Amino acid sequence: MRIDSRLSERLLKVKPSSTLAITSKAKKLKGEGRDVVTFAAGEPDFDTPDAIKEEAILAIRSGFTKYTPTTGIPELKKLICEKFKKDNSLDYQPNQIVVSCGAKHSIFNTLFVLIDHGDEVLIPSPYWVSYPEMVNLCEGAPRFINSRPENNFKINIEDLEKHIGSKTKVFILNSPSNPTGCVYDKDELKEIARICVERKIFVISDEIYEKIIFDNLKHISIGSLGKDIYDYTITVNGLSKSYSMTGWRIGYLAGPVDIVEAVSKFQDHSTSNPTSISQKAALAALSLTDDFSRTMCLEFSKKRDYIISRLNKIKKIGYCKPSGAFYIFCDISKTGLDSVQFSSRLLDEMMVAVIPGDPFGRNDYIRLSFATSLNEIEKGMDRIEGWVNKL
Ligand SMILES: Cc1ncc(COP(=O)(O)O)c(C=O)c1O
Repeated sequence: MRIDSRLSERLLKVKPSSTLAITSKAKKLKGEGRDVVTFAAGEPDFDTPDAIKEEAILAIRSGFTKYTPTTGIPELKKLICEKFKKDNSLDYQPNQIVVSCGAKHSIFNTLFVLIDHGDEVLIPSPYWVSYPEMVNLCEGAPRFINSRPENNFKINIEDLEKHIGSKTKVFILNSPSNPTGCVYDKDELKEIARICVERKIFVISDEIYEKIIFDNLKHISIGSLGKDIYDYTITVNGLSKSYSMTGWRIGYLAGPVDIVEAVSKFQDHSTSNPTSISQKAALAALSLTDDFSRTMCLEFSKKRDYIISRLNKIKKIGYCKPSGAFYIFCDISKTGLDSVQFSSRLLDEMMVAVIPGDPFGRNDYIRLSFATSLNEIEKGMDRIEGWVNKL
């Protein structure tokens, strides 16, 4: 039944972003000349490599500025297949690939073609803020599976099984994870795969942080663990985090042909192709050696270790050591503040921006991003330590 509103019911269900409130306030204060330290970044603090930029400039100069095939230019899809084979031991053919405007777009497209009204989507909690809202936009029902810090915020298999019902259609896996940095190992993924195959549940495997992984751990793609799970998996990745290309908007998915064709049809009538110029840049990115991401990873691991050494000195803040991505999820329950109070007071009183855990599913946590310089991290941690100790 329609309610009396200018907007669709579908949209009214979607929550405004509370992370945006902090980040826009921090930006405003910075604009006014205040010395704000921000731990809010959701993107690497590296420039896009020159070789990638040059390819884009060449594309513009040579007039590669028109529509391309909806699902991406053939040479890019071929290179993506080679990347999957080399990095992830995944065999995909070009007709199983759709290139879109970022991994976010790929995930939304996948949910849109899989979910009918009322279908349930299982999401491990804490979760990336956009997953539940995308499910809501597709008129599905998000169901959260809580994980515990003692288990490095990874769900256990019994909890997964308990949450499966007759309407469960999709499970969203995000390893390495935003916001916790947890990384699932092969045995854990095998168990998840077994259950999903048994219960005929599709897995959307969001692998956007695959190249940012520490302590010699290896990223495993769940779809590579056997033919059965391969047929139930939609593997999502993109260039934003691996090549510091957040603004270029290139993501991609790979999966079973019928699902990929449905995404292609949907993209035909919604956005068409991702930017032609960015696709050329993506060719250059995927042709690079792994040196760029290795350097970036090394830098991030040094910053993680530094931030941990500082957090160890703050009695009222706990944390879960991240194995990947560039975030650390911190327990602030001993401060007596919830995450929204903590974040807004810290910004008002100390000019330090952190992201409240509430929109990630934990109001007793905050997320610190270490995608910023060591100097800034040091300055910010000095301020946090002094402030929290007085609370
Ligand atoms: C877990 C996760 N998935 C997907 C994305 C989206 O990435 P993209 O820039 O490719 O849309 C992000 C971005 O922050 C993310 O954190």
